[in-house]
Amino acid sequence: MSTVKLSIAQSTELCRLLADPSRLRLLLLLEAHALSAAELTEVTGLAQSRVSTHLARLKRAGLVQDQRTGGAALYTLAAVENSAAELWALMRQELDDRQARLDRERADEVVRARKSGQTWAESVAGRMELHYSPGRTWEATAHALIGLLELGDVLDVASGDGVLAELIAERARSVTCMDISAKVLAAARKRLGTVSNVGFCQGDMRAPPFADRRFDQVFLMHALSYAQEPKTVIAKAAALLRPGGSLIIATLGAHKHEAAMQAYDHVNLGVTPEALAKWLKACGLEVELCRVTSREPRPPYFEVVTALARAGV
Ligand SMILES: C[S@@+](CC[C@H](N)C(=O)[O-])C[C@H]1O[C@@H](n2cnc3c(N)ncnc32)[C@H](O)[C@@H]1O
Repeated sequence: MSTVKLSIAQSTELCRLLADPSRLRLLLLLEAHALSAAELTEVTGLAQSRVSTHLARLKRAGLVQDQRTGGAALYTLAAVENSAAELWALMRQELDDRQARLDRERADEVVRARKSGQTWAESVAGRMELHYSPGRTWEATAHALIGLLELGDVLDVASGDGVLAELIAERARSVTCMDISAKVLAAARKRLGTVSNVGFCQGDMRAPPFADRRFDQVFLMHALSYAQEPKTVIAKAAALLRPGGSLIIATLGAHKHEAAMQAYDHVNLGVTPEALAKWLKACGLEVELCRVTSREPRPPYFEVVTALARAGV
């Protein structure tokens, strides 16, 4: 969270900035596309003078930036942390609007139709992960990579409703979904009911109900955000590994956004790769990977830390 404190006048001004449907439409559009003022005008149907005024105001507030690459200036969201960006990030999390979805589809068309002789791929090169093209989803990529896996007995700690188990079951000897919530586990059972090598167990990651050295792979996917003492959870998970087994972690990087944390019931503000690596080594594991692997493209730019650590043979 920004350490800069605002006066009442500044706070009201900030609220006014975001209390405008046109400015919100522009912000949502610039999340995925770098667009010129003319293109924004075409997509939104607003008058060009209004679009320009809104853009200037959003730029002054540090929410958007422009870049000139020969032709017209292209606007994008600015990658800065300030009070305006934080307020926008909070609001953005709750926004799901039909008009915004239509704007986005229209913007996709406008970008495709740019008269610069570029192919679709060329027009989004460098930002391709932000753009849709038919069937090119992260899920499809995950399925392609999963073919490379050969897993043994897997424990998915804080499994949620079994998304990971569904992806990996075919490539594992067994998968055990463990979650503290009976309701969430019931949803996992419903998802995976007919898959014979998947089991379910209601349990607490602070005291997993399994014998030591019971699993070949233990996953902690987006689980540590729910641990008051991540270090203890990691030690418990490490004890469950057979010799040569792997602990795989994906978790939110350290951040300052308490409101977001409360909205998702997190009990900590993320972890740094340095702290995570230290905890893994303290359990006697060999750390093969522990770093920030992704950064979300929109405010507040949450980061994900991924770790892979192995038990000695
Ligand atoms: C964000 S979800 C992640 C689900 C899944 N791992 C995924 O990546 O899709 C976090 C899960 O942790 C579970 N959880 C929270 N505290 C837990 C605890 N102490 N022990 C086990 N599971 C817990 C919640 O019920 C929830 O299903």
